[in-house]
Amino acid sequence: MQSVAERGTLTAPRPAVRGTGKHGVMAFSSILKKVAMALTGLGMFLFLIGHLAGNLLLLKGPDSFNGYAAFLAKIPLVVPVEIGLLLLALLHIASAVSVTLGNWTARPQRYAVKRTAGSSTFASRTMWIGGLVLAVFIPLHVWMFKYGDHHGPQELYGLVMRSFQNPLIAFGYAFAMIPLGLHLSHGFASAFQTLGINRPRLRPRLRAAGAVLGWLIALGFLVLPFWGFFGQ
Ligand code: HEM
Repeated sequence: MQSVAERGTLTAPRPAVRGTGKHGVMAFSSILKKVAMALTGLGMFLFLIGHLAGNLLLLKGPDSFNGYAAFLAKIPLVVPVEIGLLLLALLHIASAVSVTLGNWTARPQRYAVKRTAGSSTFASRTMWIGGLVLAVFIPLHVWMFKYGDHHGPQELYGLVMRSFQNPLIAFGYAFAMIPLGLHLSHGFASAFQTLGINRPRLRPRLRAAGAVLGWLIALGFLVLPFWGFFGQ
C-alpha cells in the first residue's frame, strides 16, 4: 500500500485535483478510498497484536489457552467486535481492490504518475499478492479453528494442536506468515503516510517501526504451527 503522494494521485493533473469537476471528484474519491484502506488496515493491525498475544498462550499449555478462550467467549461485546472486524476486513479489501485496479488502469497520459525515487521496495510491490494470500488464508483459518470440530473453548487447544500435527496445515500456515510479514511491514508506515503523518523526520522511524512490528507479529504467529508440529 503506497501513500497517496507516492502513487502520484496528488501529482496527477494538478487542476483536476483542485477543480470541482469530474476529475476533482475522482481524485477525492480515490483519496477517500486510501484513507479507508489505511484506517481499516490499522484497525486489523491492532486486532492481530491482541490475537497473537492470546495465541501465544498455546505455548503455556491447554489450561492457559482454553482458559483464555473461555474468558473471550464470556465477554458480551465479543460478537459486535467480530462483526466490526468482518466489516473492517471487507472495507479494506474493497478499497484495496478499487485503488489497485484504478492504478493499473490509469492511462499514463492522463495520470503522469511521478514516483518518489527509491520509494518502491519488494514489500510495497507485493502488497496485492500478500493481500490475495491473506484473503484466501483468513476465511480458511476461521473456518478451521472457529467452526472446527470442537465442543466449546475448553477443547480449542486440542483442535489447534491436532490441526498443526498435519504437515500440510503446519507448513501452509508457516508459509502464509511470509506474505503477512511483508504486508504488515509496508502497510503500517504507508497507512500513516496516507493519513498525513509523514513529516520527513518521522518517515524513516515509521518505516522502521512498521518493519520491526510487522515481522515480529509474523514471526510470533510462525512459531505456533512449528510448535504444534515439532513440539509435542
Ligand atoms: C498462526 C497462528 C494462529 C493461530 C494458532 C490462530 C488461532 C485462532 C483460533 C483458535 C481462532 C478461533 C477463536 C475462537 O473461536 O474463539 C482464531 C480466529 C481468528 N483468527 Fe487466528 N490464529 C492464527 C493466526 C492468524 C492470522 C495470521 C490471522 C490474520 C491475518 C488470524 C485471523 C483470525 C480471525 C479474523 C479470527 C476470527 C476471530 C473471531 O471471529 O473471533 N489468525 N484464530
